[in-house]
Amino acid sequence: MEFDSGTVVVVTGAASGIGRALSEAFTKAGCQVVLADVQDDALAAAEQELQVHGTETLAVRTDVSKLEEVEALAAAATDRFGKVNVVCNNAGVAAQGDPWIGPLEAWEWTMGVNFWGVVFGVRTFLPRLVAAGGGHIVNTASIAGLMPGFSPPYDASKHAVVAITEDLYNNMQAAQLPIGVSCLCPGWVRTGILEADRNWPTDLGAPPTSDAAQEVTRGHVRRAIDEGMQPAAVADLVLDAVRADRFWVFPHNDFLELAMDRFHRIGEAQNPQPADEVPGMPSRSEILAEVMAAMAQAALD
Ligand SMILES: NC(=O)c1ccc[n+]([C@@H]2O[C@H](COP(=O)([O-])OP(=O)(O)OC[C@H]3O[C@@H](n4cnc5c(N)ncnc54)[C@H](O)[C@@H]3O)[C@@H](O)[C@H]2O)c1
Repeated sequence: MEFDSGTVVVVTGAASGIGRALSEAFTKAGCQVVLADVQDDALAAAEQELQVHGTETLAVRTDVSKLEEVEALAAAATDRFGKVNVVCNNAGVAAQGDPWIGPLEAWEWTMGVNFWGVVFGVRTFLPRLVAAGGGHIVNTASIAGLMPGFSPPYDASKHAVVAITEDLYNNMQAAQLPIGVSCLCPGWVRTGILEADRNWPTDLGAPPTSDAAQEVTRGHVRRAIDEGMQPAAVADLVLDAVRADRFWVFPHNDFLELAMDRFHRIGEAQNPQPADEVPGMPSRSEILAEVMAAMAQAALD
């Protein structure tokens, strides 16, 4: 699909990171962009920054984990621009805390935003894209959707997003509907994802925190993200994929190789084996040694 001043794009999680970069890239391509995000101050700042490009924008405070808010977003977009052509279901979070003995709310929040947010986005906007005569849906998953190892709730949500996005693509093909579908699976990208609990909903109680052992991994992840790909480069790949009607968007080939190794092991019915070397991280044995030392220290304190 080609972009022009008549193309209306909705981006969720538009106030920061990849969503903000997507909003800017679509704006620079001449599109009218609807920015949706749960964080008011960052949303207002993002919309303000896009003014320099001279295209029309609309910011709508939206919690994507709430169906009625996604429906209100779609209504606001249609009221303002008359139609929607491209939807990027991009909002996502990563919770802290222990997945097995920590608060269950970490699962609830992660699945609510990362999984239900995508389901609500697809179900709400699909009829509108069809009504517009065609369009494109981009779902932001992660390389964690093809290989577990990041955190169980996050991995689960992203595996689900990859699966339903592939299903959606096949459904659109079978129905011969002119709706393109893309699945974005990045590795490390320089964003605010590690501080995702800035948007932890207060009605879920206090946000979970990391213990000393988890802080070790978190520190390495923070560095990997700080040194990760620029969000603008990811956004450019997404726009290319939408233009070319390509399903997979893989910004990180090194991570993709790890995912393929996993599928080879599955094909041989081998037991799971975490990768020794993950891009951007120290080796697994180094991290384990640091974790053991942190736990020993915590026991002394
Ligand atoms: N940064 C990475 O390394 C990386 C890697 C793979 C996938 N991703 C995915 O990219 C997507 C974007 O994340 P990011 O890395 O840009 O992080 P980010 O924290 O910079 O941006 C996420 C945005 O989503 C918004 N958001 C959070 N909860 C929301 C809700 N309930 N409703 C609406 N908006 C909400 C936040 O306010 C924020 O603006 C996420 O789906 C994330 O899982 C990120």
